[in-house]
Amino acid sequence: MSSPQQKKKHLYVSTDKHRWWKEAVVYQVYPASFKDTNGDGWGDVPGITEKLDYLKDLGVDVIWVSPIYKSPQADMGYDIADYEDIDPSYGTLQDVDNLIKEIKKRDMKLVMDLVVNHTSEEHAWFLDSRSSKESSKRDWYIWKPAKYDADGNRQPPNNWAQILGEANSAWTWDEKTQEYYLSLFTPEQPDLNWENPAVREAVHDVLRFWLDRGVSGFRMDVINLISKVQSFGDAEIKVEDNKYQPGDKFYANGPRLHEFLKEINRKVLSKYDTLTVGEMPFVRDEDEIIRVVGAENEELNMIFAFDIVDIDNVPGDFKYTLHPWDARDLKEIINRLQRLMLERDGWNSIFIENHDQPRSVSRYTDDSDEFREYGARLLCLMQTTLAGTMYVYQGEEIGMRNVPPSWEPSEYKDIESVNFFKKYQDMYSGNEEKQALARKIMQKKSRDNARTPVQWTAEPHAGFTSANAKPWMRVNDDYKTVNAKAQLDNANPSPGYLSVHAFWKRGLEYRKENKDVFVYGDFEVLDLEDKKVVAYKRWSEKNAFVTVLNFSGENVAWDKLGDLKVKKWVAGNYDETEIDSKAKSGTLDLRPWEALLGLVE
Ligand code: GLC
Ligand code: CA
Repeated sequence: MSSPQQKKKHLYVSTDKHRWWKEAVVYQVYPASFKDTNGDGWGDVPGITEKLDYLKDLGVDVIWVSPIYKSPQADMGYDIADYEDIDPSYGTLQDVDNLIKEIKKRDMKLVMDLVVNHTSEEHAWFLDSRSSKESSKRDWYIWKPAKYDADGNRQPPNNWAQILGEANSAWTWDEKTQEYYLSLFTPEQPDLNWENPAVREAVHDVLRFWLDRGVSGFRMDVINLISKVQSFGDAEIKVEDNKYQPGDKFYANGPRLHEFLKEINRKVLSKYDTLTVGEMPFVRDEDEIIRVVGAENEELNMIFAFDIVDIDNVPGDFKYTLHPWDARDLKEIINRLQRLMLERDGWNSIFIENHDQPRSVSRYTDDSDEFREYGARLLCLMQTTLAGTMYVYQGEEIGMRNVPPSWEPSEYKDIESVNFFKKYQDMYSGNEEKQALARKIMQKKSRDNARTPVQWTAEPHAGFTSANAKPWMRVNDDYKTVNAKAQLDNANPSPGYLSVHAFWKRGLEYRKENKDVFVYGDFEVLDLEDKKVVAYKRWSEKNAFVTVLNFSGENVAWDKLGDLKVKKWVAGNYDETEIDSKAKSGTLDLRPWEALLGLVE
């Protein structure tokens, strides 16, 4: 018999570490595509207010709104021209005040998107900065002189590629002052110079402005890019056929990142009760992650790690690539991040969709008419039973799909997709195979997939805007069958089955009822080797559950339950009236994309 000392230590999150933002369900609104109320075909702030009861009913606690600030919309509002005003296409500051009031009335919270790695080229700070080398704001951005090659041709200061158009340089030439400025994303998004204390103070003021208006935190856009290695050296050549290379080694988690984050925390965040989540691409290093999200470190509550949403990228290459993956890859990531946060007192965010990613049901499962709902319910069961703060992206709760493969490239509006397609046309003109590949990659990976208008009803334009309006982006062709109203009107489409929406609603409710397990409990993956099934155990002092997910379109006889005995299967994505006939130990017969949640002894 094992002595108490030899017993495995259980890693629950102790109750004095419980926080509202850990238990919160956050719903991301991509405002242009959420709901239009004035018939201009563009979603707006009153549209969000109109849907608050829908969100409350789903089980949402916090609403994160992608940028609604004044912006020329070169990158859909991630290019901000005024941090303290609203773009007229979305409404007014008063509309936001009203939104906050209505959100609070329903006991929910609002989180804003903070985009401070860069501004718009139309921001007053940049207009001033580019006006002359003597401008008092010159040093608010990153300016460098040109280089010249052997033939005397002008070249950018280094070989970094632009992130939203990898065929181009990250540097933009300014004719007037004859220097380059750094613009990692697009030329319309000049990077701020965080080395300058005045820039940091100006950013702190932006946070205070919104916190004092009643918002409860921030999603911080590419926040780990704010500190750059000041040598601005050339990046290593990783990608063939490209003059410009990924420069993330020089700007992702740069030398002063933690100092800057701690300063924000000390000077601003510590004075409020906030939820903070930092978008953190490129970084996999566990120590770096914990330095940001470790409870003792006073930087951010949590980050968006990219492991799962990069799963089908060619490693080290850009995002618009295709790479095969299976359940083992997913398990490896889930296991690593779940254990990391438990063992080192950090915190996860649970998400597989947002405005930069394709639709999860299309990407990770099978979005055919036959399997779409099974896939969507499977992904819900996975997310609602993992530890971390839950993020649901608009439309995910009804299982919205990618755009159909038949759409012409001209339907894609996002600057990243447009640049990608242009690159393929320039580099491979006349090469039909490459052109077909470009279309295929866009349909699988483009950000536009998540940006089509939310499908509310089966009415024209899916009820997103009025019948005679023209939505800014085409509505997915499937809206007559895939829409919120159909699922709300018919939560039980057939006995034993829940609509995707009803499944989400119940899943979020169940997660909260059992937060000791699903939010705060321990985690153990069951078998890392199986290529098709993802399964794990979650438990607290009170209860234990097992989640079993068949990530394949095949029948699988799965025998890795080990000595786990299921007391009762409590949820499944097939007919739940028959769920009790499922094996409770030994070999489990799983149907294509079958997902099960069981209470274990
Ligand atoms: C983030 C945003 C994305 C934007 C980029 C530049 O990744 O989520 O939409 O294009 O930052 O701001
Ligand atoms: Ca509108």
